[in-house]
Amino acid sequence: MMLLVPCDPLRPRRPDEHFAPEAQAAREAGLTVAVVDHDALARGDDAERAVAPVPSGGTAIYRGWMLRSERYVRFTDVLAKRGVTVRTTAEQYRRAHELPGWYPTLAAVTPRSAWTTGADRADFDEARLAFGAGPAVVRDYVKSMKHYWDEAAFVADVGDGDAAWKVASRLRQLREDNFVGGFVLREFEPFTSAEVRTWWVDGGCVLIGSHPDTPHDQPPGEIDLGWLTPLIGALGLPFVTVDLALRADGVWRVFEVGDGQVSDRPISIEPAVIIAAVAGRSS
Ligand SMILES: Nc1ncnc2c1ncn2[C@@H]1O[C@H](COP(=O)(O)OP(=O)(O)O)[C@@H](O)[C@H]1O
Ligand SMILES: [Mg+2]
Repeated sequence: MMLLVPCDPLRPRRPDEHFAPEAQAAREAGLTVAVVDHDALARGDDAERAVAPVPSGGTAIYRGWMLRSERYVRFTDVLAKRGVTVRTTAEQYRRAHELPGWYPTLAAVTPRSAWTTGADRADFDEARLAFGAGPAVVRDYVKSMKHYWDEAAFVADVGDGDAAWKVASRLRQLREDNFVGGFVLREFEPFTSAEVRTWWVDGGCVLIGSHPDTPHDQPPGEIDLGWLTPLIGALGLPFVTVDLALRADGVWRVFEVGDGQVSDRPISIEPAVIIAAVAGRSS
């Protein structure tokens, strides 16, 4: 098993400093570590050169910055040409990374959602009318602008078309070139706990920790994930994170699924713990 991490843009032979601790932990665990040029992969130019430092042959996992699903396709393709198999295929990456990929399997345990394929007002209104009325959260297939809650995330009433479109347009504008897919409307639910990030390898939970935004809010001692395990098993994905929070009525809910390769590690989890969790089950 080989670990691929983004290179430092200024010192391209070294890991990006954000991922250097995990790279170090992986080396100490006996894994081969190689750097890839994330920025070149993200731009979509010269993917072959971006993976040139990767030794040929073997199986790899990536821990790094997000890539759009179509860029990840190219990433796995150029690695395949070097005989390197990435454990998460391009199809699996898209299914974990984009909400429409995982939503159908988890619909019963996550806020009700409707989405568009385009991003203009007519597309939005169609989804809005299908969604109904009431408070909602708007995001794209991959991310929200949660730090701009009132202006670009929270919709007080989906039935108010102009007000809802104002929020959606602001989201679109703030996401800039990072906007992925279309708009997603999600029923607002009241939550009472900090988010918990759970890590899953081959359908089993390997680690429960805090969310990177609230790294010092430790998850409650015992979370029973019996209700979630069959659903994550049904997704059939090699490495994902699932973010959970406790709803006001005491029910655990799923906020989102993410591809584990591009999910940020909270500073409260040691790099070696992530590496052991991820590499432990694989061969
Ligand atoms: N349906 C919802 N009801 C209430 N709050 C929500 C809902 N969806 C998202 N949020 C809040 O917005 C935050 C970001 O949503 P999330 O879908 O996880 O997007 P991001 O990818 O930006 O983290 C969540 O952590 C939560 O606090
Ligand atoms: Mg989130």
